[in-house]
Amino acid sequence: MAFLGARARCSAAAAAKVAQRRRLAEDARGPPSPPGSQRAALYVHWPYCEKRCSYCNFNKYIPRGVDEAAVRRCLVTEAQTLLRLSGVRRVESVFFGGGTPSLASPHTVAAVLEAVAQATHLPADSEVTLEANPTSAPGSRLAAFRAAGVNRLSIGLQSLDDTELQLLGRTHSASDALQTLAEARRLFPGCVSVDLMLGLPAQQVGPWLGQLRELLRRCDDHVSLYQLSLERGTALFTQVQQGTLPAPDPELAAEMYQEGRAVLREAGFRQYEVSNFARNGALSTHNWTYWQCGQYLGVGPGAHGRFVPQGAGSHTREARIQTLEPDNWMKEVMLFGHGTRKRVPLGELELLEEVLAMGLRTDVGITHQGASVFVGGSGCAGLSVAGSAVSAPRHLAAENPLPCARRITACPVSQDTAR
Ligand SMILES: C[S@@+](CC[C@H](N)C(=O)[O-])C[C@H]1O[C@@H](n2cnc3c(N)ncnc32)[C@H](O)[C@@H]1O
Ligand code: SF4
Repeated sequence: MAFLGARARCSAAAAAKVAQRRRLAEDARGPPSPPGSQRAALYVHWPYCEKRCSYCNFNKYIPRGVDEAAVRRCLVTEAQTLLRLSGVRRVESVFFGGGTPSLASPHTVAAVLEAVAQATHLPADSEVTLEANPTSAPGSRLAAFRAAGVNRLSIGLQSLDDTELQLLGRTHSASDALQTLAEARRLFPGCVSVDLMLGLPAQQVGPWLGQLRELLRRCDDHVSLYQLSLERGTALFTQVQQGTLPAPDPELAAEMYQEGRAVLREAGFRQYEVSNFARNGALSTHNWTYWQCGQYLGVGPGAHGRFVPQGAGSHTREARIQTLEPDNWMKEVMLFGHGTRKRVPLGELELLEEVLAMGLRTDVGITHQGASVFVGGSGCAGLSVAGSAVSAPRHLAAENPLPCARRITACPVSQDTAR
């Protein structure tokens, strides 16, 4: 694509410098961990894709060309603005999602991380994930992302059957996906996740389990299983509606899910969330922050965030949604420093809904961490407070305190990936 030009190829050196600066900053010892209300996760949305997949209704665009330098400037500006508004002093994870962020140049990733590290404390061991599509992520690009500061990859593999991949409108084959997975594991050992879909039209339980078993011979320590959600407005939805494809069978999907869970359990994976499985402690700390109702900032077109704008003197947790369409979002960022389209202050009922809906997705259930949104209005910002005493609101407090979330070992970072 147009925006993957010479700039991307010459960005590795700049990215390495950023990584070096972050390492030096850490050597100089960061400040002690601030309270949960001053910690957050940061999501960065890259809204562009090479091609529209037949099932996807995420906020993504297929551009003719992208002025990447302008997008980069806007991502950096919006990150700076939202960090200032939030009063956050420590960012514990960054997640580059999309769209297809592996189409962005590593230089853009490095620039955002550098802006975050300048505005707040970004510990060297913070989890920095990038979603990668197999065809846009050959080994050399993955290495450049690593030099830019990424230390975890989430690969959209979706299926190991070429016919299914075609049905899904993917640009890669099963063998492309496995090759990317092998390269990713070499570069990010212990920190590679894969997405596998289930419940596709005409998909049968036995062959799908065969794919999962094949994947288990090749994968690392994190797997996400996503049941196809047939979304109105997608090509797949239309095909099913017009009868050119059979509707996915929910009973078969349920069977795949149940059998898949058992296979993953036998392989030593802990199901820590409805769709997410990890072994050797390789849970996604970023996503865990969402499920524990921690604070998170959302940067980029259509990104969502939930935090207390303490920097603006507020004590109320807000849901914030950024403008969806990239060109409009950029105009707003250039005018106002951010492209926030909607702010919703969250009352007790909404907070309770969040605590219940998020907590019930996890294997630890409703915890004090989640309930703390009632106390400071900000929730727990991540894993490092797990096990610490966070008081529950009086009307939720039990005589025997609820078990706190288990402490999760941070994703191991090998010597040469350490920033
Ligand atoms: C939005 S995608 C972004 C990652 C990347 N662009 C990719 O396609 O691999 C994140 C994941 O969401 C899942 N996903 C997207 N649309 C879905 C749908 N309609 N039903 C189920 N899972 C879906 C896919 O497994 C995908 O890997
Ligand atoms: S599934 Fe991923 S690559 Fe496909 S259109 Fe959606 S965001 Fe883009």
